[in-house]
Amino acid sequence: MKNSKGIPTVSPIRFYSNAKRILKNPLPFHHENFEKLGDTFQLNLGFGNRLILSRDSALAEYVLQKNQKNYRKSDIQTHEVAKYIGHGLLTSEGEVWKKQRKLIQPSFHKKQLVGLLDKIKSAILEELNTISTDKALDMMPIFNDLAFQTVVKSLFSSAIGQKEINRLQFITDSAQKMLVKELRQPYLNWYFKWSGKIKDHLAMTEEGRQILKEVIRQRKKSSSTQNDLLDMLIESQYEDGTSMNEEQLIDEILVLFTAGYETSSNALTFACQLLANHPQIQEKISSEIDAAKKLYGEDYMQFLINCPYTQQVIKETLRLYPPAYFLDRVNIEEDEFQGKTFPAGTNFLFSIYEIHRHPNYWGNPEKFNPDRFSESNTANYYPFGAGPRKCIGNNFAMYEMQIAIIELVSKYKIYSETEEIQIQPLITLKPKNANLKFEFRDLQKTKG
Ligand code: HEM
Repeated sequence: MKNSKGIPTVSPIRFYSNAKRILKNPLPFHHENFEKLGDTFQLNLGFGNRLILSRDSALAEYVLQKNQKNYRKSDIQTHEVAKYIGHGLLTSEGEVWKKQRKLIQPSFHKKQLVGLLDKIKSAILEELNTISTDKALDMMPIFNDLAFQTVVKSLFSSAIGQKEINRLQFITDSAQKMLVKELRQPYLNWYFKWSGKIKDHLAMTEEGRQILKEVIRQRKKSSSTQNDLLDMLIESQYEDGTSMNEEQLIDEILVLFTAGYETSSNALTFACQLLANHPQIQEKISSEIDAAKKLYGEDYMQFLINCPYTQQVIKETLRLYPPAYFLDRVNIEEDEFQGKTFPAGTNFLFSIYEIHRHPNYWGNPEKFNPDRFSESNTANYYPFGAGPRKCIGNNFAMYEMQIAIIELVSKYKIYSETEEIQIQPLITLKPKNANLKFEFRDLQKTKG
């Protein structure tokens, strides 16, 4: 890749002398470079490989939205991720992506999601029933199960057995873990191939596809409607009146598992940790719930709409801990932005984590302050990306997280033994050691 002009550069020596700590957690290294070199710098990885790292919100907006036609996703998403989950929305490009997005978008419209609320809520309640108050709980596996069950039940209602769900979750997790290894240790790729690890994971993915194939075939044979996402996806039609073929449908379902599960589960875990550190915010949510329940107890959708503070808490969580903490793009043709020239094929990595904590964009950026979202505040804020490839499941995710937080806070007070929130930046930004304790809010409510 050619050198990008007018951009400060981090040398290969500096990069490789920090390789060990970057492997563990790249965020402090990038932060140091941003502080020293400015909001956009170039990482020279040697052997002709360069990467632009940026926390410039205007550049992010330009690339993701204003001039998005000149940008595609990196090979990591379109090749490496696609190897395991196929070519669905997340992993496709160009006309294929456009056609699929147009087809699937209506199923994720707010109006359609209203019909899914019951399924989302019951999946959440079932999982939250496993919470016990006798000891501190590691929240990550609980929210992992909750988020996976939510996606599965929204897709298939009850048309899939728990054994198959567990297997699909295991396969999705295993493929993600394998991918992290391949991306973080590319020098071991020969070993992953030689030892048969990649082949084993591909075989597992095939097994997952077979499970899904069976569910789809049963559904197509059945005469009853479930009003779930699978029904919507099967019924949706391209402009020429045709529908998705079976393989494409499976690719899209695998994408929904991958994109819609770990992200929500990370965000929920971070939200609970932040709430544990801010008991007064838990109380504010609890009062909001009580007031909204009195007025809209019968209509769950209206009830949710009338819990705006809970939404603010989630938005603020996604600002401080965006699960998709990096977004990547590659330019198709040479481009110029504010005096900087980027040759065709430049790899861009936008640090959403840094943009969301940039003092030029946010007052007191390290502080957890849900009030900053009391007005609609979308500038410099990219938890769900931006432009035409913005997360298709953002409304789904917001409902899911809001319901989970409401159901938790209305029943429990959340405590943590430590104020420290540890992170583990992998493909998504994950929490680490999220051990929390729950205490019944009041016994009256637990009976309700
Ligand atoms: C807190 C939860 C979530 C976060 C933070 C999140 C974040 C994102 C981001 C940042 C993107 C854009 C990636 C890019 O531009 O490179 C994206 C895309 C996507 N997300 Fe989400 N997401 C979440 C939940 C969900 C859920 C629940 C679903 C589905 C059930 C979903 C499905 C998708 C799909 C299919 C795409 C690809 C869209 C396209 O390229 O057209 N996401 N997500």
